[in-house]
Amino acid sequence: MRTEKKKHWKVTPRFYILMGILLAVILVVLALFLLGDRDQSEGNQLPEAPDASQTGDPGDADDTADPGDSQDPGDSQDPGDSQDPGDSQDPAESEDPNETTRPQAPASTDVRTKDDGNLFVLVNKQYAVSRDYYPTDMVDIDGSLSTNQNLKVKREAYDAYLSMLADAKKEGLNFAICSAYRSYALQESLYNNSLAANGKEYTEKMFAYPGQSEHHTGYAIDVTSASMNWGLSQNYTDYPDGAWITEHCSEYGFIIRYPKGKEDITGYMYEPWHIRYVGVDAAKEITRQGITLEEYLDVA
Ligand code: DAL
Ligand code: ZN
Repeated sequence: MRTEKKKHWKVTPRFYILMGILLAVILVVLALFLLGDRDQSEGNQLPEAPDASQTGDPGDADDTADPGDSQDPGDSQDPGDSQDPGDSQDPAESEDPNETTRPQAPASTDVRTKDDGNLFVLVNKQYAVSRDYYPTDMVDIDGSLSTNQNLKVKREAYDAYLSMLADAKKEGLNFAICSAYRSYALQESLYNNSLAANGKEYTEKMFAYPGQSEHHTGYAIDVTSASMNWGLSQNYTDYPDGAWITEHCSEYGFIIRYPKGKEDITGYMYEPWHIRYVGVDAAKEITRQGITLEEYLDVA
């Protein structure tokens, strides 16, 4: 007869101790795993720190040449190719609204679609022109008289400018045009470039929203000269050529369109380089009274 030998496991106190240690190790490993995973997922949700360099500082504008205005429209990027911040990122996801939010066009009370020949055509933050508005009676600017090439301007304004330049030269001064007529697309490119580089606050004081730039009328000219290193500066009148422009441009039918102290009316910072043709009589009257075109036209 076969005797069955039964194995008897003897549960010793040592067994309990080993099992306890094993369980404790498993619990510690599990706890570490869960905690580690939670930290990582919270880390991914941390918001990115805002980039201070993207914030425009209008206080810097005093001595700063306006890069957008001195950009060569002939050489400029095709605005169609230009990076449109609005297209590249959902504004709702943007950390810094200055950086990437598509600008909202301020409400315009009037959008002009055709040039009716009115010398006093007003284009500003309230009065706009359409994308396809194109001024009549435009001429090419002689490339030797401008820092940027392929510029155009209204014939009347050009004739007045040439006359002013000839007289300035008699006094040993010299000027060049760096910007004149701007299409909607060019203005859009300049505005968006500044928006990306300088932020919204600065851009809105220095650049018109496309369709709201006086340059679109063909009557505005940005003048530069050696004293500004052929760029643009708010200190222009500290130099003989800048002072001469401010003092004499009305004799040729131009006004300093964005004067110092009138920022609340024009909506723009002081631009001693930006002259607007309005004809000699109006220019002299506006200058004599120390008013803006808005005030002269009684729409301020
Ligand atoms: N700098 C002027 C305001 C313009 O952009 O038309
Ligand atoms: Zn200008």
